[in-house]
Amino acid sequence: MTAAAFNPQSPIGNQKSDEVVVSVRGLTKVFKDFWNRPKARAVDGVDFEVRQGEIFGLLGPNGSGKSTTIKLLLGLLNPTKGHIEVFGHSPRHVQTKSRIGYLPEESYLYRYLNSRETLDFFGNLFHLDKKDRDNRAEQLLDMVGLGRTQTRAVGEFSKGMQRRIGLAQALINDPDLVILDEPTAGLDPIGCREVKDLIIALARRGKTVILSSHLLSDVEDVCDRVVIYYGGKIQADGTLKELLAKPDSLRITTPVLSRETLEKVLAIIRHDISTGEVRVDNPTQNLESYFLDVVAKAKLAAQETSGAQSGARVAEYLRGSAGEKSAGEKVLKKLSLPPAAPTPNIAAGLAAPTADERKLAALAQPVAPAPQPENSAPQTEPAQPLDLSQAEKKLSSLLGGKK
Ligand SMILES: Nc1ncnc2c1ncn2[C@@H]1O[C@H](COP(=O)(O)OP(=O)(O)OP(=O)(O)O)[C@@H](O)[C@H]1O
Ligand SMILES: [Mg+2]
Repeated sequence: MTAAAFNPQSPIGNQKSDEVVVSVRGLTKVFKDFWNRPKARAVDGVDFEVRQGEIFGLLGPNGSGKSTTIKLLLGLLNPTKGHIEVFGHSPRHVQTKSRIGYLPEESYLYRYLNSRETLDFFGNLFHLDKKDRDNRAEQLLDMVGLGRTQTRAVGEFSKGMQRRIGLAQALINDPDLVILDEPTAGLDPIGCREVKDLIIALARRGKTVILSSHLLSDVEDVCDRVVIYYGGKIQADGTLKELLAKPDSLRITTPVLSRETLEKVLAIIRHDISTGEVRVDNPTQNLESYFLDVVAKAKLAAQETSGAQSGARVAEYLRGSAGEKSAGEKVLKKLSLPPAAPTPNIAAGLAAPTADERKLAALAQPVAPAPQPENSAPQTEPAQPLDLSQAEKKLSSLLGGKK
């Protein structure tokens, strides 16, 4: 692999290089019926390239050809026409397959295996030795928040929990290319945010990620580049900045201004521009940010009853290691800080966490369990929040020196 060059253009600071990981030229897939008559032209003359370290999004409405493209990239389907190279080889090349992790659109799990056995099974397929399998399974289960449910059969899992174990399974072979078909489908908003952060963490470590989704806000948050499909054809492609920028208008955001100041500013602007083209409004936040805010506030209110204990624990954690951490680790570390303790953070010379980071930090705090009546049925363990600081640590050790 070529040395990864840091690309300052990347909004999430991922490690990118010029190495082409996936190259697709004139890709076409026509599904045929029993008599070889064309049934559906699922992918139609598609071209794109994905480079090392990129997060690349396949967007499009239902039935537009996203999953078919993914199956072609994995060598699960044969193209009708066109050419695909993954790491410079055909997708059917065995060594190439061992460098890919795949989360399918539907969970294909053996329902009677528990999560640990599931990961052990997939680890075996990649010829990992027992020690590696155990080690990785434990770290991955912690990372996806299923550490406490590892003895339950995956057939009993909720949709979101199945997505989480699917994600862990996709990473068991420490893949260089991770292909995720609708990774956030079925996850609650907190789970979605966590998966997006995990995807960003993978890209920061130099992994290449291809994901499909029709959840546009998810794509907007993580992807460097996207293609938009309709009817099996690419209708638009480019970086999000290129696609979404409106170069012919300008937005200035300020705190609320007095009527007098606003009138002065508008008078200056109206001098050059006709009134109809000028708009003054209050910016709105997106629904995800609002949702995280509401849940974080609710959780914080519950914490006040046991504030002293959690406060002390966090302060110690803050003192621990901020000074020696890398920039990426600092950000992830900040995500697990409680919003109640910003002062020591600032005193230590670090930037205060942003509003979104504070919301996530609050969500990462445990809530005291409600007292259970005696003789009540045992509670099932839901998926635990993905521990981002832990996730980054686990990823570091899982991925070793590979960046
Ligand atoms: N095995 C198959 N046999 C016949 N037609 C198929 C097969 N798989 C997919 N198709 C057809 O190919 C087209 C593209 O399907 P595909 O699953 O790639 O869409 P998609 O973009 O992933 O949609 P969604 O968002 O619903 O997952 C659809 O018309 C679908 O019916
Ligand atoms: Mg699909």
